[in-house]
Amino acid sequence: MKLWGGRFDKEVEQIMDKFNSSIKFDKRFYYEDIQGSLAHVEMLYQSKIVSKEEYLVIEKELKQILNDIESGELIIADSYEDIHSFVEIELTRRIGDVGKKLHTGRSRNDQVAVDMKLYTKKITNLLLEKLNKLNEVVEVLANNNNYLMPGYTHLQRAQVVTFKYHLLAYYQMFKRDILRINNALVIMDESPLGCGALAGTTHNIDRELTANILGFSKPVDNFMDGVSDRDYLLELMSCFAILMMHMSRISEELIIWSSQEFKFVTIDSSYSTGSSIMPQKKNPDGAELIRGKTGRVYGNLITLLVTLKGLTLTYNKDMQEDKEAFFDAIDTTADCVTILTGMLETLKVNPDNLKKAVKGGFLNATALADYLVNKGMFFRDAHEVVGKIVQYGEQNNLAIEDIELTKLKQFCQLIEDSVYQYIDYENLLKMGNKVEIRK
Ligand code: ARG
Repeated sequence: MKLWGGRFDKEVEQIMDKFNSSIKFDKRFYYEDIQGSLAHVEMLYQSKIVSKEEYLVIEKELKQILNDIESGELIIADSYEDIHSFVEIELTRRIGDVGKKLHTGRSRNDQVAVDMKLYTKKITNLLLEKLNKLNEVVEVLANNNNYLMPGYTHLQRAQVVTFKYHLLAYYQMFKRDILRINNALVIMDESPLGCGALAGTTHNIDRELTANILGFSKPVDNFMDGVSDRDYLLELMSCFAILMMHMSRISEELIIWSSQEFKFVTIDSSYSTGSSIMPQKKNPDGAELIRGKTGRVYGNLITLLVTLKGLTLTYNKDMQEDKEAFFDAIDTTADCVTILTGMLETLKVNPDNLKKAVKGGFLNATALADYLVNKGMFFRDAHEVVGKIVQYGEQNNLAIEDIELTKLKQFCQLIEDSVYQYIDYENLLKMGNKVEIRK
């Protein structure tokens, strides 16, 4: 059950056969392999390389094979070398010698390149749909929770923001992820079919036609590049790595925010799990797994970068390693997008605890310094004065706005009654030109 063997004087070792085989993972693009073959055989007919009758017989049976696979009637057995061998051998088994014409003017090198590109386009578009949905959910969650909350640097309370504004930062990240992935899809949109093994074919084939049938914008310009290029996988995996980093960061925030120490949010039970020993536990496993799986997606990107870096042109069998790495990267990323979407869709926000954290964080200290600057003080001096006021507040368990004016004046005579309005949190948000806030 091989497509080669003429020049071999003995059978390949069984263990070598298994080692060489890719069918376990490339059977997932059986549909694209058949679409590629359908386009190829139509082109062979249009280019007068096969007759009309031959074309029609091959076309009909390829479609039948596709049907049979999809209905479950035809099982793709792991004993074949790869999906290309499986389809071609099955075709010839069914229609006889005419099936042997299918591979005229084609190599598995351009065949696998076109299959992989077609499949990549398809599943990446599915990922994009999920990602768009995620960002809709982020936007809704943001708009429904326009509450004051502390903004952090160094995970120390810094200045006042809103939960909405914080979430909308992620909206921007995911928007860029969508743009990046779309851009990668545009760059990769060239058909490698017709490159042959590496140097084309002596047959007078029509690459424009196959590119067109398969929905590519054009055929590639260089055959050697066409069969060697895996840049699009690297580029997409880089996009996934960045997307995973964003999802990992929001997951980390959810983990912290849902802790007993913060209690800013509650992750729904449907996205949490329990402990086998501690009855009280509800753990944010969904978020933790997203954070954890991020490393795995980075790993897949590095795997392929390292695989490719020493390869001479053109095809080398090392390149077969692209598939498992890429499939795992996109499957993992898609699962994480789905889980994050569900987690955010069901997330409960606790505005009272957000407010408490705002109150206890001296989040208007910078604004008080600005106030003093407006009264004529140098910023560095204002910084020092406010530092002393914060120290006093901390010792007496008072927020700045709760310290009486007479006391504030002891730190600086420039402070007047207007200070309370100025350092009011909602006023700060307005002045900071951020988002309008819920009263
Ligand atoms: N299974 C191979 C791969 O995934 C298909 C291409 C085989 N080409 C070859 N010259 N042996 O890369």
